[in-house]
Amino acid sequence: MIITQGLTRWYGDFLALDALDLELSEGDLFGFIGPNGAGKTTTMKILATLLDPTEGRAFVGGVDVVKEPKKVRRLVGYMPDFFGVYREMRVAEYLAFFAAAYRVSRRDQRRVVGDLLELVDLAHKSEDTVGALSRGMQQRLGLARALVHDPKVLILDEPASGLDPRARVEVREILLELSRMGKTILLSSHILPELSSVCNRIGIIARGSLLALGSVDEVAASVAAPTLHIRLGELPEDADPQALLAAALGHEVSWNAEARVWSVDVGGEMPLTPEDAARSIVGAQLPLRYLHPVQASLEEVFLRLTADMDLGSEGEDAA
Ligand SMILES: Nc1ncnc2c1ncn2[C@@H]1O[C@H](COP(=O)(O)OP(=O)(O)O)[C@@H](O)[C@H]1O
Ligand SMILES: [Mg+2]
Repeated sequence: MIITQGLTRWYGDFLALDALDLELSEGDLFGFIGPNGAGKTTTMKILATLLDPTEGRAFVGGVDVVKEPKKVRRLVGYMPDFFGVYREMRVAEYLAFFAAAYRVSRRDQRRVVGDLLELVDLAHKSEDTVGALSRGMQQRLGLARALVHDPKVLILDEPASGLDPRARVEVREILLELSRMGKTILLSSHILPELSSVCNRIGIIARGSLLALGSVDEVAASVAAPTLHIRLGELPEDADPQALLAAALGHEVSWNAEARVWSVDVGGEMPLTPEDAARSIVGAQLPLRYLHPVQASLEEVFLRLTADMDLGSEGEDAA
């Protein structure tokens, strides 16, 4: 539904997007995740036909975004990271205005606006002015605005940024509802765990390049083998459990004080399966009480992927 091929964008002599290849299938809820300045907004603006690529191509629903931008705009609902809010307008008026801009017939406008307000749970605010809405409500109104022409594809730039946890949950639920309605959704976030839990696939981008792509589990597994957490029973007074475990496993062992377990990083050149670890421990006559593989959390994955990239958390966010 969305394809980019070698998508590249220079701003002057600065390379913001470096030959990006993406592919979203119909119905995907795809999380485009990366620190500030990674190139997310640039990619989304190109897909929304608001910015031309320097090189490479992009297609939405098979339509080339550079060659047939009008056709693409009919297919795409785009929510920018900062959208001009028409503060004095009333909520229902605001949506009717954008419905008219997208040539929704006057006859259908009332129904479309009503349905959208229902969907984003703002029906009770339809006569309030936009400027009086909370940040979360404005974000939901922005979502509704992106939907006025019933697009097949939604491109949502940081839909959860700046929202409190409760408003974030509401956005998450709307996204799931839209996904159930069959929309293909591309959303971005500079905070990994923020929305990735609702995504069936994620791509991690930094410095204009894709670092990892797949389901949340696949991305986590591709970056970090699980860590084994181990507990032992009673040992003789003078025994050193750390040394005994390390000798039995042939891997370094460290103490995880928080979880109160011995922790073994099983990745590297000689990966160790939980089964082999259990066999080795029992074979060394150590009293094994507990052994559990723990997948790296998304935060850890993100940190590892971007660790050597010297990325400050305060990167500039171009509007
Ligand atoms: N109009 C512009 N002129 C110059 N540099 C820009 C412009 N827009 C974005 N950039 C730079 O391109 C990089 C990628 O920006 P952007 O796509 O907004 O990243 P993200 O959305 O992931 O934070 C950033 O380093 C940003 O400063
Ligand atoms: Mg951005």
